[in-house]
Amino acid sequence: MTANSSLVSGEIDSFYSLVQGLPEDGFCSGTTCFIASGGQSRGAANRGSRKIYCLGKCYAAPADVIHEGEFRIGIHASESVVISKIQGGPVKNLEAYLESGGFNGFRSAVKLGRKKIVDYLEESGLRGRGGAGFPTGRKWRSVQQQNSSEKYVVMNGDEGDPGSYIDRVLMEYNPYLLIEAMEIAGYAVGSGAGFAYIRTEYPHSIERFARAIEEMKAANLLGENVEESKFSFNITLKRGLGSYVCGEETALMRSIEGKRPEVSVRPPYPTERGLFGKPTLINNVETFASVPWIMQNGPQRYASMGYAKSRGTKLISLNSVFRTPGLYEVEFGTPIRYIVENLGGGLKKGSVKGLMLGGPLSGILTPEKLDIPLDYESLRQNGTSLGHGGIIAFGDDVGIPELMEHVASFASDESCGKCTPCRSGSRYLRNFFHDMNTGQSPKPESPDFFRRTVKSLRDASLCGLGTGLAEFADSAIKGYPEEVVKWFR
Ligand SMILES: Cc1cc2nc3c(=O)[nH]c(=O)nc-3n(C[C@H](O)[C@H](O)[C@H](O)COP(=O)(O)O)c2cc1C
Ligand code: SF4
Repeated sequence: MTANSSLVSGEIDSFYSLVQGLPEDGFCSGTTCFIASGGQSRGAANRGSRKIYCLGKCYAAPADVIHEGEFRIGIHASESVVISKIQGGPVKNLEAYLESGGFNGFRSAVKLGRKKIVDYLEESGLRGRGGAGFPTGRKWRSVQQQNSSEKYVVMNGDEGDPGSYIDRVLMEYNPYLLIEAMEIAGYAVGSGAGFAYIRTEYPHSIERFARAIEEMKAANLLGENVEESKFSFNITLKRGLGSYVCGEETALMRSIEGKRPEVSVRPPYPTERGLFGKPTLINNVETFASVPWIMQNGPQRYASMGYAKSRGTKLISLNSVFRTPGLYEVEFGTPIRYIVENLGGGLKKGSVKGLMLGGPLSGILTPEKLDIPLDYESLRQNGTSLGHGGIIAFGDDVGIPELMEHVASFASDESCGKCTPCRSGSRYLRNFFHDMNTGQSPKPESPDFFRRTVKSLRDASLCGLGTGLAEFADSAIKGYPEEVVKWFR
């Protein structure tokens, strides 16, 4: 097994920004780095067209490829589901993982049997951590029920949302847990082949994951006839090549297939026709990370934590403007204010002007809304979303028009171009805010055109990149009208 750099050429490599790998002298252009630089992009200094969005070092922003920085890891839930083994640092090797009870989730799952594994997930209330919050058990059931001799399990380790370094830490600090979870998935849905898709911006995750695969194979915990059983499962590691949209599941699968990774229309859903046209189970890293614990401890114990329809625990990551940036495991229902003030310790400088949850392509949470609980539905009702769980705070030094230009540029750079509202709309919004920031005067038709662009992004985009840009633009205009009023008269 090698960290495969997909064969790309011509029209395909033009899609990606990091085909030649991560430049050692590169700077991050992501939103947290933009904010940490007081609303400027150091990424502009990168050579050629090699934009780097994002390195997952949001705790040490503004970040570059070489320097690492430090962050806290803390548990603030009645029980830790995913990070108990890494609170003190990375799991050293497979031996250490096994000594701490690793791989017992898989053994418990095999004892439960295929049907009960999925029952457990359904009863636990676990929802996908990749953004949409789709019920995990329902997805596994759907793949399990497909009548096909060939199925795939895919781990989505693309984590493109600036602000989130949750999946990066899990892949880097405890890849064994994720491999174990993928094997549980393979066993449950009847698949012998897994793919782990990890972004090129995370070289340590790729390296650690590749090493863990080899260690587990050598110990007969992965590969042919796992622990002398009839179950065989292999994992191929695929490296992303620098494209945010490849985190979207249909684009990701096209990327693995070596095709130009544009988003595909659904249905058919991956559960029915996914990778190479076969039923495919695709889950986010943190979703997988929760599975072994549920197998061992039972669904009720998991479901006893949480709030309303969001059960269990969630990892959140805080950016560098907080006093104590870090990765924290909290129970759903924890008030956002508690996270900001008690875990993050407030901001290093000044007070919170806004919070971006769920990456840049989601609504901004204004300070008067900090008392809402962290859960999928409450955040939705307040015009934002949980996304991966990265929380980017910004203070008064960041201007809304500058932030909007940055986010629209990000969306425009990363748009796959498949649908017109996003392909053209993201560019229009970028230019609109560029004009605003460079002292141009608004044209009489500008406000109306802006509103129509945002509406078509929201109503007619094919995926969350376009709709997320609309959500962000809407919330920024509504939340901070005084900063843009001149352009909307
Ligand atoms: C533009 C876009 C980018 C996405 N990026 C990611 C990503 O980096 N990681 C991820 O797990 N899901 C990402 N998703 C969501 C995936 O499409 C998919 O829903 C998810 O991997 C399913 O796993 P889950 O059910 O465990 O959440 C993205 C979606 C969109 C629209
Ligand atoms: S919304 Fe943007 S990224 Fe998504 S399919 Fe349309 S063009 Fe591609």
